[in-house]
Amino acid sequence: MPDSQPHPPLAGPETQFPPGVAWIDGRFVPMSEAKIPILDWGFLRSDATYDVVSVWKNHFFRLDKHLDRFLASVAKLRMSLPFDRTGLETLLHETVTRSGLEDAYVEMICTRGHSPTFSRDPRDAVNRFIAFAIPFGWIADETQRDRGLRMIVASVPRIPAASVDPTIKNYHWLDMVRGLYEAYDRGGENVLLKDLDGFLTEGPGFNLFAVKDGSVHTPDRGVLEGITRGTALELCAELKIPTRIEPLSMETLTTAEEAFVTSTAGGIMAIASVDGQALPASPGPITRRLGELYWAKHQDPAWTTPVRSL
Ligand SMILES: Cc1ncc(COP(=O)(O)O)c(C=O)c1O
Repeated sequence: MPDSQPHPPLAGPETQFPPGVAWIDGRFVPMSEAKIPILDWGFLRSDATYDVVSVWKNHFFRLDKHLDRFLASVAKLRMSLPFDRTGLETLLHETVTRSGLEDAYVEMICTRGHSPTFSRDPRDAVNRFIAFAIPFGWIADETQRDRGLRMIVASVPRIPAASVDPTIKNYHWLDMVRGLYEAYDRGGENVLLKDLDGFLTEGPGFNLFAVKDGSVHTPDRGVLEGITRGTALELCAELKIPTRIEPLSMETLTTAEEAFVTSTAGGIMAIASVDGQALPASPGPITRRLGELYWAKHQDPAWTTPVRSL
């Protein structure tokens, strides 16, 4: 029986892609031509790891840290890349240069790949490396960045760290996508997930921080060790703001003076409310100071690498 529900448009050849350039199967192509075979385990099983580094005004930000994390993730998943670290770095420079973008979101991916015989043994698959550069994107839009995000704490728990190691950057996002829909249904804009013990973890693409009694708290476990999280902690040390890296309870978050999230896709972004309850300040004074220093560091040669032209 035909249903009368409106359907979202189906992706077809006419579907638009953002501008940018990808490197896949040994060549550079426009984003519209960057495709993986449907037999790739990256697609069929979410068997992949990736990393995202930003380019701001023609400079990579903390490139070494992103390369370290990506190479560690590839090794933990017992995958291999077609080149060494220097080759990887050279390729990222070339991808950005070819994209012509000054501010870019640069993703590197290693998938399990596919086996020529459709073998179910992951050791038979030939790993695939992909990189692309598209325009810089933000977790929060401009209004949300100015006034802070309206967060919901989802009822769906984060996938347990004992099952999927969250320190390996991965595409196991069905918990977070379920959480996002729950947040939208409950009038929120974004979502935080708790672990099975009820402690807060992270959200889709970001780490969580709460400022309580003047100290900056962030979860010590069950999360991706975000490069922006690490940067925020380094900035706290520079500003002599005390930090506490330990399990983060709902009570700490809901009684915090201020709270924020961190991500390569936008830096340090304030949280305005949790489950509809406004926090006392958004952006609060510490969030603001950290955010200003975060962007100032984008001019610091110690943390940036100029994109090499071809
Ligand atoms: C689950 C998760 N947590 C945290 C982050 C933030 O990490 P980073 O600061 O390295 O961008 C991300 C980034 O995509 C993520 O996917």
